[in-house]
Amino acid sequence: MPKPIIRIVNLTKKFGNLTAVDHLNLEIEEGEILGLLGPNGAGKTTTLLMLTTVLRPTEGTAFVGPYDVTQEPDKARTLVGMAFQDPKVLWVSTPWDILNWHAKVCGIPSNEREKRLRWVLEEVGLWNERRKSVHTFSGGMRKRIEVAKILVQRPKIAIIDEPTTQIDIVGKHRIWNMIRSLRDEGSTILLATNELYEADVLSDRVAIIHRGKLLVCDNPKKLKDSIPGGDVIEVVLGKDVSKKCLEEVERMNRVVDVLSTKPNHLKIYLNKAEEVLPQITEFFLKMRIPIKSVQMSEPTLDDVFAHYTGLTIEEAEKR
Ligand SMILES: Nc1ncnc2c1ncn2[C@@H]1O[C@H](COP(=O)(O)OP(=O)(O)OP(=O)(O)O)[C@@H](O)[C@H]1O
Ligand SMILES: [Mg+2]
Repeated sequence: MPKPIIRIVNLTKKFGNLTAVDHLNLEIEEGEILGLLGPNGAGKTTTLLMLTTVLRPTEGTAFVGPYDVTQEPDKARTLVGMAFQDPKVLWVSTPWDILNWHAKVCGIPSNEREKRLRWVLEEVGLWNERRKSVHTFSGGMRKRIEVAKILVQRPKIAIIDEPTTQIDIVGKHRIWNMIRSLRDEGSTILLATNELYEADVLSDRVAIIHRGKLLVCDNPKKLKDSIPGGDVIEVVLGKDVSKKCLEEVERMNRVVDVLSTKPNHLKIYLNKAEEVLPQITEFFLKMRIPIKSVQMSEPTLDDVFAHYTGLTIEEAEKR
């Protein structure tokens, strides 16, 4: 049985009337990458900030290693490194100075420091810019420095808030690989993301949160397999469908569930999609409802989210 290195117990944070994190219970196992996935405002950053003792819980607590973050925050902090969602760097500094100072503070011996800095700066693609003032940097470049801090530090527990927002696709893959190697070298990684693909490819387990509450936590494959029916057919129609129409689709053989995120947009969860598809298109033809597009796919983490909330992540972000 893998042992938890972080134990979140009834963790709650209120800002006035708003409950940003709502009695969250979750265990993060030593040596895993756990992705906290949720739409904007789900409570991801607030959770991470409580674990790193930046924010104090309103109720409940978390244990980081053996330390209760509310009782022994100084000790808890010795085990963690955090990359913040919005990097705050001193504008006149250079990547080299920022990382060198960070390495010093983290107690990395001077003989090791230079080698490690060079390796990390090359990996995040900032070696040639290492002596440039960061005020000339793009948002993505500043984000790379923030993530580089963690890679220099190699903490026992790395907490990374949105590892690759604003970073281009090549940079994303490099950072994902570096996070994986950090895990392989023995760190436990807790990261927050609202990118489905990032959560899926990077996490050993994904915890989906919405409105401060944990919906489900498991490995990405099991989460997708838990969706009723093994396939998804997405149909966009030329006009809105009635409730009666929806019910008829629901009653079709092999159809397990139908989610109508917009009145003309159906997600049909079913088995053996290829066998049912002709029946579905015939049905809409008969009803004189034009089909604008049809797409067959395997379930994604978005479907898992939609299964629990009735909304896609994109829609949840708009509310
Ligand atoms: N310091 C604060 N004061 C008041 N409300 C706050 C504060 N920090 C966060 N919130 C609110 O708490 C909720 C959760 O915010 P949080 O930043 O944890 O979300 P998130 O899941 O990280 O979202 P995102 O994907 O946008 O980063 C939001 O409604 C936010 O407005
Ligand atoms: Mg956030």
